[in-house]
Amino acid sequence: MSSVDLKALLEQMTLEEKIGQMIQLSAIFFDSADGELTGPAQEWDLDEHGLSMIGSCIGGLNAKHKREIQDRHLATDRNKIPLIFMRDIIHGYRTIYPIPLAMAGSFDPSLMEECAHMAAREASHEGTHLTFAPMVDFVRDARWGRVAESCGEDALLASKMGEAQVKGFQKDDISSPESLATCVKHFAAYGGAEAGRDYNTVEISERLLRSRYLPAYKACIDAGTTMVMPSFNNLNGLPSVGNKFLMKKILRDEWGFEGVVISDWEAIYELCVHGVARDLSEAGEMALDCSCDIEMVSRAYYDTLADLVRSKRVSEDIVDRSVMRILELKKRLGLFEDPYHGSIENSDVLLCPEHKEIAERAALESAVLLRNNGILPLNKNIKRLAVVGPFANSQAIKGTWAAMGENKDCISVLDGLKALLPHTEIKWALGCEASIDDPSKDKIAQAVEICENADAVILCVGEPQGYSGEAQSRVDISLPGVQDELIDAVTSVNSNTVALVFNGRPLTLVNLEKKAAAILEMWHPGTQGGLAAAKLILGMANPCGKLPMTFPKHVGQCPIYYDRTRTGRPKKNSDDKHEICVSDYLDCGDLPLFFFGEGLSYSNFVYESMVLDKNEITKDDTLKVSVTIRNDSDTNGKEVVQLYLCDLVASAVRPVQELIAFEKISLAAGERKTLDFFIREDMLRFYDSECRYISEPGDFTLSVGYADHMRFTQKFTLI
Ligand code: NOJ
Repeated sequence: MSSVDLKALLEQMTLEEKIGQMIQLSAIFFDSADGELTGPAQEWDLDEHGLSMIGSCIGGLNAKHKREIQDRHLATDRNKIPLIFMRDIIHGYRTIYPIPLAMAGSFDPSLMEECAHMAAREASHEGTHLTFAPMVDFVRDARWGRVAESCGEDALLASKMGEAQVKGFQKDDISSPESLATCVKHFAAYGGAEAGRDYNTVEISERLLRSRYLPAYKACIDAGTTMVMPSFNNLNGLPSVGNKFLMKKILRDEWGFEGVVISDWEAIYELCVHGVARDLSEAGEMALDCSCDIEMVSRAYYDTLADLVRSKRVSEDIVDRSVMRILELKKRLGLFEDPYHGSIENSDVLLCPEHKEIAERAALESAVLLRNNGILPLNKNIKRLAVVGPFANSQAIKGTWAAMGENKDCISVLDGLKALLPHTEIKWALGCEASIDDPSKDKIAQAVEICENADAVILCVGEPQGYSGEAQSRVDISLPGVQDELIDAVTSVNSNTVALVFNGRPLTLVNLEKKAAAILEMWHPGTQGGLAAAKLILGMANPCGKLPMTFPKHVGQCPIYYDRTRTGRPKKNSDDKHEICVSDYLDCGDLPLFFFGEGLSYSNFVYESMVLDKNEITKDDTLKVSVTIRNDSDTNGKEVVQLYLCDLVASAVRPVQELIAFEKISLAAGERKTLDFFIREDMLRFYDSECRYISEPGDFTLSVGYADHMRFTQKFTLI
C-alpha cells in the first residue's frame, strides 16, 4: 500500500482542486488537452489548468490512449494525483461471455466469479481501473430493456450473482493489475420502473423495497464493493441521487457504507429536469447532501460548488469528506505508485484461448433447454441439415454493453455447426430479418425450400442485441418482425425443427412452443455463442441452465414472477377456464409460458427423497434438509437443486414460495448424490406490515423442484 499521506495532500489542495476530484469527464475531454481548447472542453471552458484538476475519466480506448491521458494529466496537475479510469465492463471486455441475465440462469456463482475475473484481467490490462458493475437491479417486468443486464427476478439469486461478480472483479486486491474495482448499481429499485418504461417513476412500499429490491445491493456491499451508483429513477418522490432516505439513512447510516458514491450519467443535472431542484446549484447541494462524491459528466459541482462553499451554504468539511474518500480509493488502487495500474499495450490476454474457453463454458452453462420431444441431441451422423432464421448466420450475438467486444469475434451457429459436422450437408437461409422495421416475407420461401429436404432444421430466432439494454423498453415482447410467420412456414414442412432463441429478455413464445420439436434458449451468448449452441445441439455438452426470469404467455401478464404474494382468491385448478371470481385473466390464464427455475437436461434426474432431520426448530437450531437425486440416464449432467420456502400463516401476507437455497451439482450417468441444505431462523425472517424484520413461530413448508413442479414438500415448525 502506498505511503502517500492523504491528510497532508488534502491540506495542500485548493477548493477548486478538491472539487476537481469530484468531477468525472469522458475521455473526449482529455483528448483536447493539447493547449488548445476543442470540443466539450471548450464548451465547459476548461483550459489545461482546469483539466489538470479533474479526478476521473469515463471511457478511453486502450492502454496506450489511457497512458497518454494519464501522462498529460500528471505533467500538469501540481498535486500529482492520478486519474481513475472507469468504464462499463458488464459481461466481458474483449472476450464476451453471456449477458448477465443469462449468467444468472447458470445458477453457478463460481462460474460467474471466474467470468468476472477474466473480464477484469482484460480490462485492467487495457488501463481501466474500475467497472460500473455489478448491476443487481431487482426485475420483474420483461418490458424493461435493462433486464438483460440484471441477475433476474429472484433476490437471493441476484445477491449470489452480484457477490460473485464483486469477488471475481476485485479478487480482494483492487491494486492488482488483474483486478478491477467495482461499483454496484443502480441504487435503488431502478428495475421497478412503472410499466417497464426505462427511467420511469418507481413508487413502491418500504416493505417491498427492503424485502426484494435492496438485498442484492447489500450483498454486494458486504462482499466489499468499492463504489455505489444511485439510480436515475425517482423512488417514492425523489430521484435516488437526491434521496436522503436511500443515500443517507439506508446506505451510509444503516449499512455503514464508507466507499465512494458516483452519480449516474448527468443524474445530478436531471434533478432539475425532474423538477426537484430549481437550478444546478440546488441540484449540486442536494446531491452533496446525499453524500454523492463524484458527479458523472454533468456540471453542477463544476459550476456551483465553489460558490456554495464560499457562501457557506455547504460546509467545506463535506467536500473534504468526499475528496478523502476519492483519494483513499486512488490509494487502494495503488495509483500513487503505478498510475497505469500495470496496464499493458497490446496485451495478449485479449481473446486468448483460455478466455474463449471460459466464455464458451459460460454460454454452455447458461443455455436453457425449454422443450424437447426427444429430437435433441441430434445424431452426429445427420446427412442434411437446414440452418435458417435471422440468427443462423449472425455474429451479432454478443448482447448489450459489450465493452470492446466485436461482432466479428463471435462465432455464428452456422459456423459452429459446420466446424463440428464436417460430413453433413448444411444449407442455410435467412428466412427473414429480426427487425420490427422489416416486415418483408419474400425470403421465407427460400428457407422453406431448404427445410423441406432436410433431415432436421435448426431455426434461429430472437431479438436483435440492440433491442434490450438501456432505454430499450418494448410493449410487444414477441419475436420482432415476421419471425412467427417463418416459424409457421418452416415447421409446417419439417416437424424436426429445433428452435434456438437469441434474446436479452423473456419473450412471448407461445407459437414457437406449440410448433417446435425443441427449444433451446441461448440468450445473447457472447463470443463463443454459436459454438456452444452447436455443442449443445449435438450432445457434446448437456444443457443445465434454468430460467432466471419468468416467460409470460402474453405481455399483458407483465409483471409476472414466481414469488407472488398470496391472494384471497387464487385459482384452484389452473386448467379450469370456468372458475369464477378468481385471480385470473379471461383471455390468457394466470400461468406463464415458462417458469422461473425451469430447464431440461439430456439426463433424467430422479428426485428420490427429501428428509428433514427434525420437524421443529427453535431460534437457535439448524434444520438439515437432505435431498437425494439420481441421474437415471446414460448421460452425465448437471442439475440445479432449488429449495423453496412457504410461510403458511404469518402476520403479513407472504409469497406462495420463495427460493431460499440452491446448488448446482454434477451427476455422472447412474450416479446418486445426497445434498444437504441448512435452514436457520434468520432465513425465515421477513418484513412485517410495519416493516420490522422478524421471524414468527409457526408452520412452514420446504419444497424441492420449481414452480408447480415441486418434487417433495415437507412441513416444519419454528417454535
Ligand atoms: C448510464 C447507465 O445507467 C449506467 O448503468 C452506466 O454505468 C453509466 N451510464 C455509465 O456508462
